[in-house]
Amino acid sequence: MAASKKLIAGNWKMNMLAADGIALARAIAAQGDIPTCDLLVCPPATILRAVAEAAGGSSVAVGGQDCHEAESGAFTGDVSAAMVRDAGASHVILGHSERRHGLGESDARVCAKAVAAHAAGLTAIVCIGETEAERDAGKTLDVLSGQLAGSLPDAGVDGATTVIAYEPVWAIGTGRTPTLDEVAVAHGHIRATLAVAMGDTAADIGLLYGGSMKPGNAADLLAVPDVDGGLIGGASLDAESFLAIAAAAG
Ligand code: 13P
Repeated sequence: MAASKKLIAGNWKMNMLAADGIALARAIAAQGDIPTCDLLVCPPATILRAVAEAAGGSSVAVGGQDCHEAESGAFTGDVSAAMVRDAGASHVILGHSERRHGLGESDARVCAKAVAAHAAGLTAIVCIGETEAERDAGKTLDVLSGQLAGSLPDAGVDGATTVIAYEPVWAIGTGRTPTLDEVAVAHGHIRATLAVAMGDTAADIGLLYGGSMKPGNAADLLAVPDVDGGLIGGASLDAESFLAIAAAAG
């Protein structure tokens, strides 16, 4: 395992206005000092600072959901890595499947964003994962290798700067998950692929599982070898279910 503590991260996606986000962050922060795991919440950019302030003084960290690869400039609607950092984030999710598949974000773009995130002092949570068609065609491990090779910068990747989230696209928001064996195979493959690329450093990189993680399946998923935490969507929007998943990390 990469770290002694699991990382339980909530991806709020495009949910939460300020009042609800602040209340959720406060509720998590109030209960959130859990010895067996680190907690991270990733609100939308509009409330990043408000949520960071609400969680301030607690052990709950805050992350963005994306950043642009450029330092600044004429990129209407985008936010830079430094802006995400300036708003109080320590992490940023990059290459989520909803951006890769919904918005055509390529491995090369994700890689450029990871470089920018590292330069701004953010830990990049780089998401990878196969579609259902790719799994059915027996291509899962090749897809993961390809996304790792294309999405990770050549330098500066280590346990402090980078986390990998394995999120099978077909498991996101569907209530379906891979079997525990399938998760073990995928995570073992990711770890081995990283080891070929960067040697011993690979052991320090946290590998999160994401895709329909809930209080009822979290303990089993989080006990799979090489699963160092979870990236949770729907179940992270409620303090009780998010904290129940965190409790299952023990
Ligand atoms: P769900 O937990 O809603 O399936 O979403 C997972 C996800 O996409 C986290 O980034």
